[in-house]
Amino acid sequence: MQAQSDIFNDLKGFIDFGDEDVANLQAVAPLFAAHGGGLTDRFYDKLAGVPSTAALIEGRVDALKKTHARWMGELFAGDYGEGYLQSRWKIGLVHVKVGVPPQYVEAVVSFLRAESEYLLQRELGDSALVAKRHASILKILDIDLMIINLAYAAERVDRLCKFTGMSKKLIERCIEKG
Ligand code: HEM
Repeated sequence: MQAQSDIFNDLKGFIDFGDEDVANLQAVAPLFAAHGGGLTDRFYDKLAGVPSTAALIEGRVDALKKTHARWMGELFAGDYGEGYLQSRWKIGLVHVKVGVPPQYVEAVVSFLRAESEYLLQRELGDSALVAKRHASILKILDIDLMIINLAYAAERVDRLCKFTGMSKKLIERCIEKG
């Protein structure tokens, strides 16, 4: 299997994530530092309204919001190297471990895709600038999601190997051959 860092670099290359995106993301960091907390509050309210996710966050919403604020800060910090990859991979592993249904990670990212555009429209006004900045936000959110999803898939196969005693190669062949 391809090494994580090769996959990460291939993905960044595929979506043309480059210096201009880094500059766009750093430029909107202050906006998200000021308004990101409001977005986080809103999607935790949504997660609290879904029985399968509410049970996972009950009693620790404030701590999770802090963790999430840190994650959001990193989105705009301008450093998208190996440490970034590892932190996103770990998010996937942790969520498999606690049993977060993966579709809700997707749903949170979907919420942030839309809400980040409204935030930029409200705060920046200039539609050309909004489009430029938002394109980079979409890229970094998708990069995070791609890594988290890869980690989810890898961790599920690992768990299946441990549980069944089957080798990873055999499990992968079973998946391939159907
Ligand atoms: C974009 C989506 C999400 C991001 C970026 C995110 C981010 C994070 C991060 C950074 C952590 C800390 C990981 C660590 O310990 O290193 C975490 C933990 C956690 N997240 Fe999420 N999360 C997301 C979606 C969700 C959803 C949808 C749920 C649904 C319940 C959830 C529930 C949890 C829980 C319960 C933990 C604590 C795990 C533990 O016991 O250590 N997260 N999340």
